[in-house]
Amino acid sequence: MTQSTSRVFRIAAIPADGVGHEVVAAGRQVLDAIAADSRQSLEFQWQEFPWGSEYYEQTGRMMAEDGLEQLKDFDAIYFGAVGWANVPDHISLWGLRLTICQGFDQWANVRPVSFLPGIVSPLRKADDTDLDWVVVRENTEGEYAGFGGRNFGGRVDLGEIATQSAVFTEVGCERIIRFAFELARTRTRKKVSSVTKSNAQQYGMVLWDDVFKRVAQEYPDVEIESVLVDAMAAKFVLRPEELSVVVASNLNADILSDLGSALAGSLGLAASANLNPERRFPSMFEPVHGSAPDIAGQGICNPVGAIGSAALMLEHFGLHDEAKTIQRAIETTCAQGVLTRDVGGTASTEDVTAALISHLSD
Ligand SMILES: NC(=O)c1ccc[n+]([C@@H]2O[C@H](COP(=O)([O-])OP(=O)(O)OC[C@H]3O[C@@H](n4cnc5c(N)ncnc54)[C@H](O)[C@@H]3O)[C@@H](O)[C@H]2O)c1
Repeated sequence: MTQSTSRVFRIAAIPADGVGHEVVAAGRQVLDAIAADSRQSLEFQWQEFPWGSEYYEQTGRMMAEDGLEQLKDFDAIYFGAVGWANVPDHISLWGLRLTICQGFDQWANVRPVSFLPGIVSPLRKADDTDLDWVVVRENTEGEYAGFGGRNFGGRVDLGEIATQSAVFTEVGCERIIRFAFELARTRTRKKVSSVTKSNAQQYGMVLWDDVFKRVAQEYPDVEIESVLVDAMAAKFVLRPEELSVVVASNLNADILSDLGSALAGSLGLAASANLNPERRFPSMFEPVHGSAPDIAGQGICNPVGAIGSAALMLEHFGLHDEAKTIQRAIETTCAQGVLTRDVGGTASTEDVTAALISHLSD
């Protein structure tokens, strides 16, 4: 560790539902071990919030009414996953995660797709090809803008009617596309792949394409391509070595990043950062996966996605060495075969977390 002055970071922990509790606990243990190792140059102060589906059961709300007010002065939010059988999914997601992402203008969702040693990918190419790309997801508008309506009357033969509109603003497109170009400039392969479905969706996604072409002119050093989302799904599987930064709208990037983490071996591996790049509000760090009700409470979920998200949080704090320390410990733990069962092992969540902590000081 190279840190010399004492720095304190206040983090709001929101485990929420299901395996969210287990993976947030694992990530906290890792960060506390990093702080303990720092010879008091670093301190993480945690405050845990009980929000989620159980809180809804008791209060009729997914989070406190003044929840954003309570969160706004934290340095970051560390989130588990939301969703449980007692609350319809659209209510739990909108009532907590989307309220935070949209309320705090966390417009850039960064989702690295990392292929780890010791983990078998379903992708044959992963055996002998260096694969490493990042999905950059527009995180505040697009298909998740919440625009639409249901149950319009008067159309007898059609039964109920619902509309769900996507919202694309020029500012929203430009800032996420520019973010992708800036990120590409920091990577070995300087390339941005823009993903839309502008052949079928001729308004919002054509605006996105136009903005992409305009912004690209300012980055002549960065390779570009525009790919339709269906073709990009195929490319993830067939030519993933051509990818570096993939930028897409809210829904398309959500789907593509799940495909990416499945190709890397498991949904449980994927980390993510919901960033407010201007730092006017706290950013939120969470694994890509959901609350995994099928395995929740059994102590067997994979904590790597959540721990990788904690590393992204440290990057955001400017603690680059400490973030790298966590990444290396993840790689060593996987390479040594300490794996949960979603990636072919028999280790528990606790075993993986303990092994990883033991490698922080390697
Ligand atoms: N960011 C979020 O909070 C978020 C994201 C996706 C889904 N959800 C919610 O989660 C609930 C369940 O959704 P789902 O089943 O579609 O998705 P999911 O990600 O919870 O689970 C999909 C599959 O992946 C496995 N999985 C997920 N995380 C894992 C981990 N850490 N270790 C090992 N295996 C893991 C599960 O066991 C399951 O088989 C729903 O209520 C949904 O709305 C929330």
